[in-house]
Amino acid sequence: MPSPQDAPVASGVHSVNTQGSIEPMRWRGDHLELLDQRALPEQILTLRIDSATQTAQAIVDMAVRGAPAIGITAAYGVVLAAQRLESAGDWRKPLERAISELAGSRPTAVNLFWALARMQETIDAHREASQAPLAALLATAKDIHRRDLEDNHCMGALGAGVIARGGPCAVMTHCNTGALATGGHGTALGVIRSAWKRRLISEVRVNETRPWLQGARLSAWELQQEGIPAVLAVDSAASLILAEGKVKWLIVGADRIAANGDVANKIGTLSLAVQARHFGVKTMVVAPASTFDQSLASGADIPIETRSARELTHQGERRITPLDIVVYNPVFDITPASLVDVLICEKGVIETPDREKIAALLR
Ligand code: MRU
Repeated sequence: MPSPQDAPVASGVHSVNTQGSIEPMRWRGDHLELLDQRALPEQILTLRIDSATQTAQAIVDMAVRGAPAIGITAAYGVVLAAQRLESAGDWRKPLERAISELAGSRPTAVNLFWALARMQETIDAHREASQAPLAALLATAKDIHRRDLEDNHCMGALGAGVIARGGPCAVMTHCNTGALATGGHGTALGVIRSAWKRRLISEVRVNETRPWLQGARLSAWELQQEGIPAVLAVDSAASLILAEGKVKWLIVGADRIAANGDVANKIGTLSLAVQARHFGVKTMVVAPASTFDQSLASGADIPIETRSARELTHQGERRITPLDIVVYNPVFDITPASLVDVLICEKGVIETPDREKIAALLR
């Protein structure tokens, strides 16, 4: 448990930037601001983050979530640790301890470890420095943040180009892969945003995404902000909706993609991909290069996070299940590459992904 001074601090209403776009995290010169995703959509609150421990806690508690957003936030967490160590003689060990603490926050999204590895490279490049390399670490964190936003716009354009081949249609999405889950714009929801601007999407069918309700609370909110027609349904309505034949694409993000193209994503994605294949709906997975893990041969090697039983046993403060019921709450699943029709990354588009095509694209 963090001590009170290590807990993130609620610091008021999160303002919208001048372009009206959603910013899940903002570097404020000497601290980090997070849009507290636990309070959405009822309240748009800011959480002030001043240390690596607070950063890790905010990731564990899902104040910030979504694979790229976790990576960017953790990178700023390393900057916050360096800030506290700037005048310390021995800054290397405490800084590496902060990196380990951040790495322990969530296990599945590889973007977290990718971003921390980039911060570690910056530390290694300044190993002999007498002071913690604060300016260099901040530059790396800002670069990770800026590039993620650029990559999302690039994937948005690529994905919209693929949808354009078939003409305007309805699409289905799962979880939240929008601006909130990334540095802005989004991955799967970024494709939907870009395609909507080109009038390629008639409506978005949003799955509520039990148990944390990323679809009902976050994707529904983001789509409403943009005026994109969205229809929310319980997760178990998906097969009925897909059978109706209006939806042409299932568009989802990823938390980690193994070398063979197997995709770890929010629990329920596997069942949706199976159903989509059954009903002739194409599955598109949208993820930046930082989500690919070439060190893992297949999805069987990807660690799957399980979260608290309370996410199932309670609605708010009210218990809805019998006492002592045994609960299994895995929050990701693995969709085999064979169920993915199109993989979109900022580096390009892969149809029917496999090991060779992925290795060639990432090279
Ligand atoms: O548990 P979460 O909300 O962090 O899970 C998020 C997802 O599964 C997203 O689909 C994934 O991170 C891609 S986000 C661009």
